[in-house]
Amino acid sequence: MSVLRMVNATKRYRGAANESDTLALRGFTYTFEEGEFVALVGRSGCGKTTLLNLAGAMDFPSSGEVWIEDQLTSGLDDAALTRLRRTRIGFIFQFFQLLPTLNAVENVELPLLLSGAPRARERAMERLEWVEMGALAARMPHQLSGGQMQRVAIARALVHNPKVLLADEPTGNLDTSTGNVVLELLRRAAAEHGATVLMATHSAESTAVADTIIHLRDGVIEEVRRAACTG
Ligand SMILES: Nc1ncnc2c1ncn2[C@@H]1O[C@H](COP(=O)(O)OP(=O)(O)O)[C@@H](O)[C@H]1O
Ligand SMILES: [Mg+2]
Repeated sequence: MSVLRMVNATKRYRGAANESDTLALRGFTYTFEEGEFVALVGRSGCGKTTLLNLAGAMDFPSSGEVWIEDQLTSGLDDAALTRLRRTRIGFIFQFFQLLPTLNAVENVELPLLLSGAPRARERAMERLEWVEMGALAARMPHQLSGGQMQRVAIARALVHNPKVLLADEPTGNLDTSTGNVVLELLRRAAAEHGATVLMATHSAESTAVADTIIHLRDGVIEEVRRAACTG
């Protein structure tokens, strides 16, 4: 069983008023393996964010199928979708999306509290330490640098051990060296935790850490490139 499988997925956004529709994805098929780190590249508007939203069951294809493990996302009711998102999927964003009124450890703990998981504070602290942010656990987001906020956001995304980690331009708001720390954490999430990582990115250097690079163009795969085996 694959972790994430998309079969001929399309996404049509209805145009407003006299606008025409946008076909943001036009038949995307790919099977993502456990622990695979995939970089999704292509120019702005090619469908990267749309693809991540389908892969995370935040949105559904207009036609075609998205399978997360053995669940067809478009076949789930709201309760099952909520459970799927809370237990199987982690999301990381360009602008971090930390809650400003919660400190670092409270941000990381929140997904566990929402799903009623045990040992929430302890597990949140373990994750913060994993991203080397344990010492700053009591800081509020506005007291952290961009790179530090993104590390907290990674800890939050990983706190429930998701099978699928989705990252939308996670280094887009960081300088190169800070971005490289974030990329290394994503690589370790795949290697050490077996998470399938799907990262949309603009930057060429981001793709160096990936096992697979998917080039999207106008909502279709233009090319799939696999990294040379490094043993
Ligand atoms: N909610 C939406 N409603 C209408 N059109 C959208 C919506 N979201 C994205 N689009 C359009 O779909 C296409 C793909 O967008 P997106 O997936 O955001 O691309 P990328 O992340 O690669 O920049 C673009 O033409 C964009 O304008
Ligand atoms: Mg985008």
